[in-house]
Amino acid sequence: MVHSNRIHHHNRDRLIHWARLYDLSTGLLGRRGNRMRAMFADDLQLRPGERALDVGCGPGRLAMVFAKRVSPTGSVEGIDPSVEMIKRATTRARTKGMPANFQVAFAQQLPFGDATFDAVACTLALHHVAEDDQQAAVAEMYRVLKPGGRLLIAEFHKGQPHLVPRWLRRFSDENMVDKALQFVNASGFTDAASGPTNLRWLGKITARK
Ligand SMILES: C[S@@+](CC[C@H](N)C(=O)[O-])C[C@H]1O[C@@H](n2cnc3c(N)ncnc32)[C@H](O)[C@@H]1O
Repeated sequence: MVHSNRIHHHNRDRLIHWARLYDLSTGLLGRRGNRMRAMFADDLQLRPGERALDVGCGPGRLAMVFAKRVSPTGSVEGIDPSVEMIKRATTRARTKGMPANFQVAFAQQLPFGDATFDAVACTLALHHVAEDDQQAAVAEMYRVLKPGGRLLIAEFHKGQPHLVPRWLRRFSDENMVDKALQFVNASGFTDAASGPTNLRWLGKITARK
């Protein structure tokens, strides 16, 4: 049996392999989902020509919104360790003719050089990273951002599991917004702030490198 260090090292991450079902479920958020994604692009102040990264991109819905904002000269990268998610995101970008590339990778080991991106997003994915790798994942987001680059993390609010849709609830017993905020501050980001989103169960953090 062949053991890769990399796979062994990250085997406590919670990958989502049911990409089609996940995609359909987030699609059910409808206009509220569209508003949320537009708001995240606004928070990141994406402009044409910029490079953006979506960490734990899932099936690529947010990356498509980012790609529209940075078009025609900019580009978007998305990473997720789930092969199924990356396939679905890649098909979506090709079908729509969007400047977005996707690859299988882990948040705590981003396959990009230092200071590559103008903006980095990580929505509902940090709590899927093994607990003792979460700080490393946020440090990686810092590393790949250009000086002055913008960060957006979206996570579950504390103590409101009843507000979370049933199909997401099994992932959501943690106080992830406050926890992520600590990681963001510890990684060296400035101007870190947390706030609500248009979904009652979802909070967000914005910060700058
Ligand atoms: C709830 S989904 C969120 C997807 C998308 N960002 C969204 O907002 O709809 C969580 C994603 O995190 C991914 N994931 C799990 N472990 C990860 C890791 N170590 N690094 C990056 N993503 C990871 C899962 O495979 C899954 O696609």
